[in-house]
Amino acid sequence: MRVCVIGTGYVGLVTGACLAHIGHDVICVDNNEEKVKLMKSGQSPIFEPGLSEIMQSAISAGKIQFTTDLGAGVNHGEILFIAVGTPPLPTGESDTRYVEAVARGIGTHLNGGYKVIVNKSTVPIGSGDWVRMIVLDGIAERQKTLVPAGGVRDDEQLPEITAQFDVVSNPEFLREGSAVYDTFNPDRIVLGGNSSKAIAMMEQLYAPIVERKYAEDQSLPPVPVLVTDLSSAEMIKYAANAFLATKISFINEVANICDRVGADVTQVAKGIGLDSRIGNKFLNAGIGWGGSCFPKDVAALIHTADDYGYEAQLLKAAVSVNERQRLIAVEKLQQALKILKGKTVGLLGLTFKPDTDDMRDAPALNLIEQLNRLGAKVKAYDPIVSQSGLRDGLTGVLVETDPQRLADGCDALVIVTEWQQFKTLDYAQMAKLMNHPVMIDGRNFLDPEMMLRAGFQYIGVGR
Ligand code: UDX
Repeated sequence: MRVCVIGTGYVGLVTGACLAHIGHDVICVDNNEEKVKLMKSGQSPIFEPGLSEIMQSAISAGKIQFTTDLGAGVNHGEILFIAVGTPPLPTGESDTRYVEAVARGIGTHLNGGYKVIVNKSTVPIGSGDWVRMIVLDGIAERQKTLVPAGGVRDDEQLPEITAQFDVVSNPEFLREGSAVYDTFNPDRIVLGGNSSKAIAMMEQLYAPIVERKYAEDQSLPPVPVLVTDLSSAEMIKYAANAFLATKISFINEVANICDRVGADVTQVAKGIGLDSRIGNKFLNAGIGWGGSCFPKDVAALIHTADDYGYEAQLLKAAVSVNERQRLIAVEKLQQALKILKGKTVGLLGLTFKPDTDDMRDAPALNLIEQLNRLGAKVKAYDPIVSQSGLRDGLTGVLVETDPQRLADGCDALVIVTEWQQFKTLDYAQMAKLMNHPVMIDGRNFLDPEMMLRAGFQYIGVGR
């Protein structure tokens, strides 16, 4: 099928590349020329395992193109994905101006053929109908430009643009760091809309994925496809992320109680996770959730509820537990070192989770700010940030190029991100380079006994 993906952030680029990989003809549109140039050469502007490989093979197979020309993309696609950002406004609402600009742009370029316009961006509930309206606005704008030059304006005489389209909501559930894997191995596909023609086209688009042709385990039954109305599909995205964020805040709260009563939250998580009604995933206690989705989506859902006169008390509590949890490492540092003024703290990891270069809403940022406020000197090592230009954008922290240099002269280390390579660092050597070998394991990632043997005072979260 002919597909156009507008916006090449995490969601757009992964979607475009994966759809090209399974045989569709894809054009990705982005208004950033530099980025388009980079992608044309087969390079991904984001760090995402497996992405450049499938981009390159799709480019060689002639299945994917990149352009800044929205008109060309709209002309090409029978399915048009809107995958631009919806960053949070200070109020917690999503900023939908990019979605609006794209929807209007689509309207001004629509030609005669039938198109399915797909909302892939996480948009406020009710946006499906709003997008339809904006596209119609775009069509009306173009109609006005069709008045013959020098001709008298007469709205009755405007040439008719026959554009037929339907809007579908198709939320993504991709995790950064495993976005390509998640696209080929989804738990479900959600399609919201009221046009059976549009839904049938979307089912055709995803058929190879539904049939698990590109899945790790091809013997599994087909991927469930859930067809709903527009608003329910939009709500599913928010509810899924809000549930997961709440689940983490729940286990973090349990961890804080464990700390006080002397229980071990890792064993408690195992014990409750074996109950199939609870499940063992997303029960790792630590320094709180961050990233581009959870904070933004939970805030947006609270805001939407508020707009409709309902106070989302549980979600607000999940947020406030998380805000406190992000500073739990500071509390633990104070318990271990007492005064932090003049002390040096080394952070192992900066990104909001491993296998990504994403620093959006990363707990590390709150930690750095708070430690600076208390007069501590902050150093950090991160496998990706330390090697990239990202380090230049950080203030209040000295980014070191390797873990040994990080440890040198530190009064304590904090595991902020559970990068796999942090399991096997030479901790005994690092302990020798430190003023005080204190290890705050903000992700309960290391083996406490191994750390004791390496000469560290080990402090986890709730264990
Ligand atoms: C999330 C959702 O998982 C995905 O479905 C959605 O589309 C986008 O948001 P992502 O932001 O990539 O994906 O990260 P995820 O792996 O879900 O982790 C989110 C945050 O929760 C991270 O800060 C992570 O460190 C934290 N987390 C996760 C925990 O603290 N404990 C856990 O047990 C799991």
